[in-house]
Amino acid sequence: MILIDGKKEAAILREELKKEVLDLKARYNKIPGLTVILIGELAPSKIYVRNKEKSAKEVGLKSEVIKYPDSVDEITILNKIYELNKDDSVSGILVQLPLPKHINKKKVIEAIRPEKDVDGFHPQNVGNLSSGYESSIPCTPLGCYFLIKKVEPNLSGKKAIVIGRSNLNGKPMTQLLLKENCTVTITHSKTKDLKRECLKGDIIVAAVGIPELVRGDWVKKDTIVIDVGINKTEKGLVGDVNFEEVSKVAKALTPVPGGVGPMTIACLLKNTIECFKRSI
Ligand code: GUN
Repeated sequence: MILIDGKKEAAILREELKKEVLDLKARYNKIPGLTVILIGELAPSKIYVRNKEKSAKEVGLKSEVIKYPDSVDEITILNKIYELNKDDSVSGILVQLPLPKHINKKKVIEAIRPEKDVDGFHPQNVGNLSSGYESSIPCTPLGCYFLIKKVEPNLSGKKAIVIGRSNLNGKPMTQLLLKENCTVTITHSKTKDLKRECLKGDIIVAAVGIPELVRGDWVKKDTIVIDVGINKTEKGLVGDVNFEEVSKVAKALTPVPGGVGPMTIACLLKNTIECFKRSI
């Protein structure tokens, strides 16, 4: 079984990005900048944002985090986004989700200039991705895509099962796999006989948020299994895949932690650099 080392792959990608930033700086005397807006005190969000900031600085990007209390009103956030949209030193804007209930997520996402939308959540980017045009691509599925391609560079004709239909993961993952000529089945928590669907997969991407849902007897041999889940349970952090069982049958599997997570952040840095390059 190939244990897909997301930490190692992310470090390799960051090294490439570091060189690219130096090259861009030498050529244009400017560096790409990432601004993250963090609202509230949710512990996981604070950890993610801290990691994003640290990694951005490591590869030489200009990195800024703007923090607001939970009680901040929507117009303050929208006005800050409008200001950042106009700021030439900001290549990418990310508003960390989830947002407090009184702030409209759709309004916030749509306020970000699509050219600076490093998350790829703006409808213009979603539409461009599904139409096969150039776009920002959501960081987590992009990271999954790189990990799958590392194991199997030619995905043409493969049967892929995506578990989960979120805008963050399942839907964009489906688009990326379709672009690679996979035959994709989108499944979710209401799918009947999910086990039977999974058994057809040459590739399984589990992004549904159900601890250890995918069992050993759900996976045929030679399948590449990507686990996007991060679930807090009594026995600690676990993915959407039962690692112990699936590692005995799959061709390749990502661990949790140390699989998809580090790649997500590296892809955010890549997206920031891509936004910068498209702006010059
Ligand atoms: N919260 C959890 N994952 C993400 C992500 O990829 N982007 C943003 N903006 N918020 C998140």
